[in-house]
Amino acid sequence: MKAFIIALALIVVSSVAWAGAANVQSLRGDAALDAPSAQTSAKAWQDGEGKIQRNYAQQPPLVPHSIEDFPITREDNSCLACHNWDSQMPGATKVAVSHFVNRDGEALSNISPNRYFCTQCHVPQTDARPLVPNIFRSLTEE
Ligand code: HEC
Ligand code: HEC
Repeated sequence: MKAFIIALALIVVSSVAWAGAANVQSLRGDAALDAPSAQTSAKAWQDGEGKIQRNYAQQPPLVPHSIEDFPITREDNSCLACHNWDSQMPGATKVAVSHFVNRDGEALSNISPNRYFCTQCHVPQTDARPLVPNIFRSLTEE
């Protein structure tokens, strides 16, 4: 009987945890991987234009512009029009050479598949309440 009650309590607790997790939605929304992101209003975090200062050496730089009109789908990555090594876009930082190396350490002539979905690591800024608390501080503030 005791084991049964414990099992029942565990089921209740885990279903409550699941219900909580279901309320958290990413900025991307629930758009399918090959569909444009549902995110519609990304605005600049800081006043003014320009790149956002990095907080530590290996940080993927934050995206300082809206990405509303720049979809990444299975067929096409519109970020690369401005950021790829051969782009003519003035001021757009070229992707790092690390982005041309595949998981086996081989250098490729174009973006490695494991860097294709830029927004996995590079996030635009939005003036929203954080989904979860964050106590991160930049090294420069130490
Ligand atoms: C129309 C050209 C264009 C497109 C398309 C574009 N960007 Fe940019 N991006 C820029 C420019 C120009 C800058 C330089 C900062 C500025 O002027 O806002 C920049 C800056 C950045 C930076 C900061 C680089 C640094 O050195 O700090 C990141 C990261 C970035 N973009 C990521 C992306 C991602 C991810 C996408 C696709 C979702 C994308 N960009 C699409 C033009 C573009
Ligand atoms: C797996 C994570 C990851 C993905 C995916 C990724 N990046 Fe990066 N990116 C990083 C990291 C980490 C850095 C900083 C370290 C470095 O330069 O390798 C970086 C650096 C950059 C820089 C700055 C380069 C410089 O010389 O300062 C640009 C621009 C950039 N990425 C654009 C992109 C674009 C565009 C895509 C999609 C095609 C992309 N990244 C995909 C992690 C990622």
